[in-house]
Amino acid sequence: MGIQCALCHSTVDDAFAPGIGHRRDGWANRDLDVGAIIALAPRLESVASLLGTDVATVRTVLNSWGPGKFDAVLFVDGKAFRPDGKSGAVLIPPAFGLAGVNLHTWTGWGGVSHWNAFVANLEMHGKGTFFDPRLDDAARFPVAARAGFGDVRAEEDMITPLLPALQLYQLALAPPAPPRGSFDRMAAKRGEDVFAGKAGCARCHVPPLFTEPGWNMHTGAEIGIDEFQANRSPDQRYRTAPLRGLWTHGTGGYYHDGRFATLAAVIAHYDRHFSLGLSAGEQRDLAEYLKSL
Ligand code: HEC
Ligand code: HEC
Repeated sequence: MGIQCALCHSTVDDAFAPGIGHRRDGWANRDLDVGAIIALAPRLESVASLLGTDVATVRTVLNSWGPGKFDAVLFVDGKAFRPDGKSGAVLIPPAFGLAGVNLHTWTGWGGVSHWNAFVANLEMHGKGTFFDPRLDDAARFPVAARAGFGDVRAEEDMITPLLPALQLYQLALAPPAPPRGSFDRMAAKRGEDVFAGKAGCARCHVPPLFTEPGWNMHTGAEIGIDEFQANRSPDQRYRTAPLRGLWTHGTGGYYHDGRFATLAAVIAHYDRHFSLGLSAGEQRDLAEYLKSL
């Protein structure tokens, strides 16, 4: 994976070779404070003018993100904060385990190649071609509509030729198996039955993809959360997160903004929202199963 993508989508395993490490491509970097790093840039005038604001505001917004988060959509809709005043940034997701998954990103902007072209042209400002007329909607994506992001053409296209190899590489990144002893096998086996049976998780998280084959999107109301982040995306929905390699997520929490600190908190949320009536034991077993994926 290109070194710039690896900045956010890889981590280093120091146990492998102390001091040198071993790059683990596809893992979400949940330690990197992207916003704080960009905020240190001496010149942010171009970002401020794109967003139609001043440099001091841009620095405040960047410093509000925190580690492991980034806000790609800020650069198309200019919305930095949620109605409750918290940052609109989302967690960096893993870039592995995506083969067979239809839509990507937390809110399903498109397939891998759509998002790669989006990031390379609109976020990293490479020279290329990008076409997505959904961004011409000035009411929803004012920054993009003003900047003409819905139809970008460079004199020399240096991005499009790279898309096929980048996609194949990303789709080949398999989720890493959980380390031995990191979960209770017997409990995970019982949890698998709860997942597919009583808890109804497999209705959306369809094994072995753990997202729906097809249009894998849901409103916030369906999963019991607010619509803020969904409303910032073209289909105004959240994508069913493919759960494989969940054990690698580390710090930062779960769901797009890390609102649930632990898997137990995610399960308790679903138990309430869907009135599942799961016992404490079933909830524990379910968590062990999630750690085994
Ligand atoms: C500054 C950090 C950063 C960099 C650099 C970056 N990404 Fe991402 N990536 C993210 C974040 C954050 C998301 C989630 C975006 C969202 O859902 O709004 C994401 C989402 C993705 C996804 C979708 C993952 C999923 O679960 O569906 C893919 C694929 C991806 N990025 C590939 C790339 C590639 C390829 C590059 C290099 C061209 C790249 N990224 C560079 C932060 C980054
Ligand atoms: C109606 C469809 C649906 C059902 C049923 C469902 N989920 Fe989800 N799940 C989603 C969506 C959509 C997301 C993404 C939420 C977001 O982006 O914030 C998600 C996210 C998650 C996450 C967070 C993944 C991450 O990367 O942070 C976990 C864990 C999870 N679900 C587990 C479960 C379990 C366990 C059950 C059963 C109790 C379940 N889900 C039932 C749709 C569903």
